Amino acid sequence: MEDFIRHLPKVELHLHIEGSLEPELMFKLAERNGISLPYANVEEARAAYHFHNLQSFLDIYYQGANVLITERDFFDLTWAYLMRCKADNVMHTEIFFDPQTHTERGIAFDTAINGIYHALRQGEKELGITSKLIMCFLRHLSEDAAFETLEQAKPHLHRLVGVGLDSSEVGHPPEKFARVFAEARALGLKAVAHAGEEGPASNIWDAMRLLHVNRIDHGVQCVQDPELVQELARTRMPLTVCPLSNTKLCVFDKMEDHNILSLLDEGLCVTVNSDDPAFFGGYMNDNFLALNTALSPSKEQLTQLSRNAIEAAFLNEDERKLLIQNLDDFWAKHGIH
Ligand code: HPA
Ligand code: ZN
Repeated sequence: MEDFIRHLPKVELHLHIEGSLEPELMFKLAERNGISLPYANVEEARAAYHFHNLQSFLDIYYQGANVLITERDFFDLTWAYLMRCKADNVMHTEIFFDPQTHTERGIAFDTAINGIYHALRQGEKELGITSKLIMCFLRHLSEDAAFETLEQAKPHLHRLVGVGLDSSEVGHPPEKFARVFAEARALGLKAVAHAGEEGPASNIWDAMRLLHVNRIDHGVQCVQDPELVQELARTRMPLTVCPLSNTKLCVFDKMEDHNILSLLDEGLCVTVNSDDPAFFGGYMNDNFLALNTALSPSKEQLTQLSRNAIEAAFLNEDERKLLIQNLDDFWAKHGIH
């Protein structure tokens, strides 16, 4: 089964590029930019990665991002992630970045997006990995700040597929962002939002009704509301679920308690993703392998998780067909025994 998982063609839809900053690269960039870190070495940084909830993680995550200064830093960060995609058989990835994490500390919007975007294009050319870029608003900041960020994004609209909403969910429900999401959608962008990670099922309803999202990020708290679960199944609203993230942030006590396979069996469009892999113990294969160890999914279930991600990706129908073909070829070779 492990071999099956490693070779399974995958699509990632929930990845914060700043959350793929491995301690080794963090130290390298800190040195390159003359920045001091609160850790003596890589081991000490890794040892600090113990979290009891989302906020305890976010504090360390935003601090790590301080080493990202130049366009080259953002390029190197993104390139390192794409190499992991290659190793994990990720065919297509739709990644988030948090411009406000950088503009708030005086790094230009253009510096961040240029570095990330050029690495994504190079990944397409040299690694054959296709990709899209989603800009997230930080929900603990104001509506005005989000509008200002959307303004900064306007010269780069052709490089963005959508907008998202991340950071501290509890105490920051979706409604503050209804107007800025409406403007983003009017500009032709897709919409996604983190909802029902730590926050209540009502945040998922609000993300759908007020932000008109095309996908929900996380969404695992939907089980609090059976009517919502039914609606998610009926509409095939995708949930970008992040198993290792959920256990590291104590959303579930242990992987055995995770609800992804029950939601899959109820007909929801759930997908597997790595969220912030440098902080949560692994990339796509690690997430699938952790599910395998704890929940013993069938080959059909594992393949359906990949199929769901292809269905949920922001691709045109030709691009989608190509990915489905890859998965069908894989299934024909490795599925039925
Ligand atoms: N949740 C909310 N905000 C985030 C996350 C997450 O899992 N990762 C990075 N920013
Ligand atoms: Zn996330």
